[in-house]
Amino acid sequence: VLSHLDDRCIYLVGLMGSGKTTVAKIIGEVLGYAVFDSDKLAEQTAGMPSVAEIFHVHGEAFFRDIESQVLKDLSTMKRLVVATGGGAVVRPVNWRYMKEGISIWLDVPLEALARRIAAVGTASRPLLDQESGDPYTKAFAKLSALIEQRYDAYANADIRLSLEDMAAKKGHE
Ligand code: S3P
Repeated sequence: VLSHLDDRCIYLVGLMGSGKTTVAKIIGEVLGYAVFDSDKLAEQTAGMPSVAEIFHVHGEAFFRDIESQVLKDLSTMKRLVVATGGGAVVRPVNWRYMKEGISIWLDVPLEALARRIAAVGTASRPLLDQESGDPYTKAFAKLSALIEQRYDAYANADIRLSLEDMAAKKGHE
């Protein structure tokens, strides 16, 4: 599929911690595409230092409006790889923009996501930073709720990459 891109943008979608930023950089390097991160562009648009700060000061709906504007602007361009925020799939209008390009869902087991997030902390991820308690357990609980709500939205992606939980596999060998 990637050899028939015709300069179209590539959008990486998936839950927080699924590796969208890392994979975007790799694909960008391989294809010689510019790499963008919709969270970073939203921060720049809002003139705020972090997504967490945007949520805190203006609320989630405000962030989602900016996120849609960012995706709309990007959809007019070519030869970009975009790491989207984990919730970018929820608003149907965003799919109108992302369907101008090719979308790839990085589908990673919840255990692996929760482990990665627990390792880096939840401070930069406002949706996960709400409750107290063990970071792994609370990340796992919230991610389970999110995948339940968003499964169909992620499934709109053109390509689904189901990634194994390598660490878990190794542990069982
Ligand atoms: C969100 C994911 C975050 C960020 C915001 C909301 C979500 O992006 O956009 O905190 O709703 O899943 P990452 O997936 O890059 O962490």
